[in-house]
Amino acid sequence: MTDTIDISINKVSQSNIGTLDVHNIPFAKIYSDHMFEADYRDGEWKNFRIVPYQNISVSPANNTLHYAITVFEGMKAYKNEDGEVLLFRPEANAKRLNISAERMCIPELPEELFMEALTTLIKLDSQWVPSVPGTSLYIRPFIFATDEYIGIRPSDTFKFMIITCPVGAYYSAPVNVKIETKFSRAFQGGTGFAKAGGNYAASLYPAKMAKAQGFDQLIWTDAETHQYIEESGTMNVMFIIDNTIITAPASGTILKGITRDSVLTLARDWGMKIEERKVTVKEIVEAAKNGTLQEAFGVGTAATIAHIARIGFEDEVYDLGPIEEREFSNKVLFELDRIKTGKVEDKFNWTLK
Ligand code: COI
Repeated sequence: MTDTIDISINKVSQSNIGTLDVHNIPFAKIYSDHMFEADYRDGEWKNFRIVPYQNISVSPANNTLHYAITVFEGMKAYKNEDGEVLLFRPEANAKRLNISAERMCIPELPEELFMEALTTLIKLDSQWVPSVPGTSLYIRPFIFATDEYIGIRPSDTFKFMIITCPVGAYYSAPVNVKIETKFSRAFQGGTGFAKAGGNYAASLYPAKMAKAQGFDQLIWTDAETHQYIEESGTMNVMFIIDNTIITAPASGTILKGITRDSVLTLARDWGMKIEERKVTVKEIVEAAKNGTLQEAFGVGTAATIAHIARIGFEDEVYDLGPIEEREFSNKVLFELDRIKTGKVEDKFNWTLK
């Protein structure tokens, strides 16, 4: 990479912000005015530029179109009461992007470039960060291969981009999930820990089958035995039994969620008991059956804290307790929101102005 990060800026002649109704924001339907773009060629990242949000052109032989050589991040920006923009744990996203990239033979993206690109873009489009409660600016950094070559080999060229869009809730209501025991998301030695496009593509068919049965999402189980719970469709998953938070360890098959880490850090700080260990389907189904499953929820950037209303397993469906009585998940959702919007002291140093 070059020593200085010199980003050229080509602004829109007219902002599209007028099309946004901040009281009714659909998830990821309206994109902000600008996007960041950089190219990787001849062994270095170059051509740093911010341009109006627009379509890009790729060859029909583009290797990502054929082989999904792409990784991405999901992050959010919020407004505090003074109208200043706060990013939530962006350095963690920069690091995780490179962990995913390595697995897909994508070159490292310097963290300084990630941060400079991100902050320059968000400053320019700061009017797109909504301030209505429950809304935020969703930020999607991604890298994809751009070789014009349909043979299989690591790519020589890539593009790094950041696009952003104002969002409301990802799930508008508590979710119904099905414990999946036929299809698998990931296996040891695979790409489960990486935020790689192909992981999400492969999840669509099983999720579609579950949808036809009335479920919003799946809870994945391990590929070898289907006896252990891993993660849910777009989020990590946590359970509370005996006042203890139980969640699967972020091993090779599970995405190491930044919201997951934030929730566990807050829980630890509040003195909650936590067990990061293999979670059996049997214990969760038993607890759902006998009423000892106090809480079940997904945690993710897009989903934030998604309460689980029902769990389906084999031919049975178990209704969990009323959402308003769930002490921990409601409390952590509220507290995370206060931290992200600068309403309380940021004692873990998570936000960046
Ligand atoms: C996120 O939570 O940011 C994600 O990446 C989920 C996404 C697939 C919507």
